[in-house]
Amino acid sequence: MADTYLVTGGMGCIGAWTLYHLHKSGKRAVNFDASADRQRIDWLMSAEEQESISFLQGDLRDSEMVKAVFAEHDVSHVIHLAALQVPFCRANPSLGAAVNVTGTVNIFEAAKAQGVNHIAYASSIGVYGPPSEFPPGLIANDAPQNPRTLYGAYKACTEQVGKVYYYDDGISSTCLRPYTVYGVGRDQGMTSEPTKALAAAVKGQPFKIGFSGTMQFQLAADVARQFILAAEQQLDGAYGFNLGGKPATVSEFVGFAKDVLPEAEIDVADAPLPFPAGFDDSALRESFGRVYETPLDEGIAATIAHMQRLGDAI
Ligand SMILES: NC(=O)c1ccc[n+]([C@@H]2O[C@H](COP(=O)([O-])OP(=O)(O)OC[C@H]3O[C@@H](n4cnc5c(N)ncnc54)[C@H](O)[C@@H]3O)[C@@H](O)[C@H]2O)c1
Repeated sequence: MADTYLVTGGMGCIGAWTLYHLHKSGKRAVNFDASADRQRIDWLMSAEEQESISFLQGDLRDSEMVKAVFAEHDVSHVIHLAALQVPFCRANPSLGAAVNVTGTVNIFEAAKAQGVNHIAYASSIGVYGPPSEFPPGLIANDAPQNPRTLYGAYKACTEQVGKVYYYDDGISSTCLRPYTVYGVGRDQGMTSEPTKALAAAVKGQPFKIGFSGTMQFQLAADVARQFILAAEQQLDGAYGFNLGGKPATVSEFVGFAKDVLPEAEIDVADAPLPFPAGFDDSALRESFGRVYETPLDEGIAATIAHMQRLGDAI
């Protein structure tokens, strides 16, 4: 029996890119998502290419349903991405906790019931506190986690959950902490505005990005491939890794967009995000032979070219 990769949240941005890369490398994928809207996947794959993927609609909060997915599809690898992002957790904290925390527990429980002994899943740099709590420079992988959003608190909780399943049940796990993900399909969540600005610029529309400051921009396709590697390369333990990249300002991001689209009308609000400028990814590099890191100018140019190919569809 070939390996089967369960992707949760595959209708989302990183998930859609994950399904795309699994398909491209000939791997069998099962997508489990509350949504049946294939919009983001349609931007990446033809209807024919999508036939290689099993699409299941369901809710992570339903522990029996999650267990049934593992059992019925003979899951061997898990890439757990489904979650509610910062604005949704803020708007409905109970739902946020149920999806992001209980949903993750349900994934570990299903893995335990089915004898799957490794999980890759998404955390976030939202687990850390504001820049004032850290010395200057890149934040260490093992820096104290002192989140200031419920979203960050839920993600920090799931990192602890992963550790307990390793100690109690020997299920290893690797969670990755993205920062500002950009690329085709990034259209919701607090830091989606740089990508929304690219989409507006491609359509000849003005756009104002509501925040400024220095951060690490990570291309969705790179993040997806790092998650696939995290699922395949099983480390002995429960690990959390910052994703890295050279820190850049939002204005630099806009500058790279204007190199490709000189007429683009993109403004940046003078409102730095309450997060440190960058996170150290040396632990990730030490543990994985490969780190996917498309240079920012190339990633932005590729995203604009992709959006132009999609035309009115985006
Ligand atoms: N995008 C970023 O910049 C970023 C940064 C840090 C961490 N992350 C994390 O990476 C992961 C993927 O991010 P994304 O940008 O692709 O998210 P997204 O919001 O685009 O997609 C999330 C997906 O989860 C699904 N989902 C939500 N609730 C569900 C439920 N109860 N059951 C099943 N599916 C459900 C949604 O339908 C959606 O398709 C998330 O865990 C997110 O917190 C993302």
